[in-house]
Amino acid sequence: MAEALRVGIAGLGTVGASVVRVITEKAAELTRQCGRELVVTGVAARDRSRDRGIDLGGATWFDDPVGLARSADIDVFVELIGGDEGPAFACVKAALEAGRHVVTANKALLAKHGVALAEIAEKKGVLLNYEAAVAGGIPVIKTMREAMAGNSVSRVFGILNGTCNYILTRMEAEGLTFEACLKDAQRLGYAEADPTFDIEGNDTAHKLSILTSLAFGTKIAADDIYMEGISNISQADIRAAGELGYRIKLLGVAQKTESGIEQRVHPTMVPTASVIAQVHGVTNAVAIETDILGELLLSGPGAGGNATASAVVGDIADIAKSRPGFQHGPVFGRPAKELRPYKKAQMRSHEGGYFIRLTVHDRVGVFAAVAKRMADNDISLESIVQHAAGPEAEVQKTVILVTHETTEAAVRKAVEGITKDGHLTDKAQVIRIERAG
Ligand code: HSE
Repeated sequence: MAEALRVGIAGLGTVGASVVRVITEKAAELTRQCGRELVVTGVAARDRSRDRGIDLGGATWFDDPVGLARSADIDVFVELIGGDEGPAFACVKAALEAGRHVVTANKALLAKHGVALAEIAEKKGVLLNYEAAVAGGIPVIKTMREAMAGNSVSRVFGILNGTCNYILTRMEAEGLTFEACLKDAQRLGYAEADPTFDIEGNDTAHKLSILTSLAFGTKIAADDIYMEGISNISQADIRAAGELGYRIKLLGVAQKTESGIEQRVHPTMVPTASVIAQVHGVTNAVAIETDILGELLLSGPGAGGNATASAVVGDIADIAKSRPGFQHGPVFGRPAKELRPYKKAQMRSHEGGYFIRLTVHDRVGVFAAVAKRMADNDISLESIVQHAAGPEAEVQKTVILVTHETTEAAVRKAVEGITKDGHLTDKAQVIRIERAG
């Protein structure tokens, strides 16, 4: 049997502890599958005294993750620290430069430094694996990088943040408040260290930027992503969506358009009958549309210790099985040096349907004024619903408009006009509708 693969793990939080547990508990099966043992020979974390409920066996403890990354006693360095700079960046770079394979679950790091790190890995001839960085346990990186050769992708989109999907699902199903659902997501270990990264869309954007690069062969450009989170989604939106045959999901979407590549993260109305609308709780889903394959939808657990550990251990096992000349190819599907800059499509040119919820004074002429602003901007309406609005029902009404396909620029102009007309009692709510099968 080949020599054991020596694994160094930096970061022993929810995911790190789960990875150690899986490697220990599944040792016999992993050895059979990989043809060699996986042995954790080194670990690094902040607090040595903390009881994590795991057996660290004979692993050497490092206070400094860079020391572990450079250690001659590891073959693969697993980064589970998190963060796009600081120790995570320093130790991944150090490990690659020292010729160690790297496995990371760190989407923020890859969104910022992925291409530069891929260049080092490719120069050194080592693997940089990151399955766990996007959509938790779903093997979407493998699928896009290895199983779709020759396909031209036109759109990739999905539910990429388990915390947001968990919150939206429970708000809809149980009528709970946003805050209560977020607390539970944190308790269950789904949320980021800073949960604003989940709810404001940054985490989805980091993951989307990686999928965009794999889909279109472009440089990673997370800062270009248009981003809106879910913190202003109310029970009123969720109820109105349901009445009109939609469900609200936070989607990341990357799409080829006539004006360039659109990358956007925002709450989205998807038809209740669509497959993606049936993706509930912490589950993630990624839809990939290509010329050869048509539409592929992958779904599965998107966050949490075990789901993420499954992807991390899969990446480590790939390294254990790899032989020189039998690797999975470049880190982002094309050699890092050949990833192209791309033409960014402006959000104003986005085309699609829109849901617009207006809370208006209950007085003569409001409806006509709203309809006029829509017509003035060439916006054709698919439906209009009006009902009483909350405790102020005597004096204000809710008007919900669903538009046919139009442009973001037209909608923004129409809403600006409606706001100026002075009929609104609250800020207009605009949610984009996404075509989904
Ligand atoms: N906070 C992330 C989520 C963890 O909720 O999806 C997985 O990346």
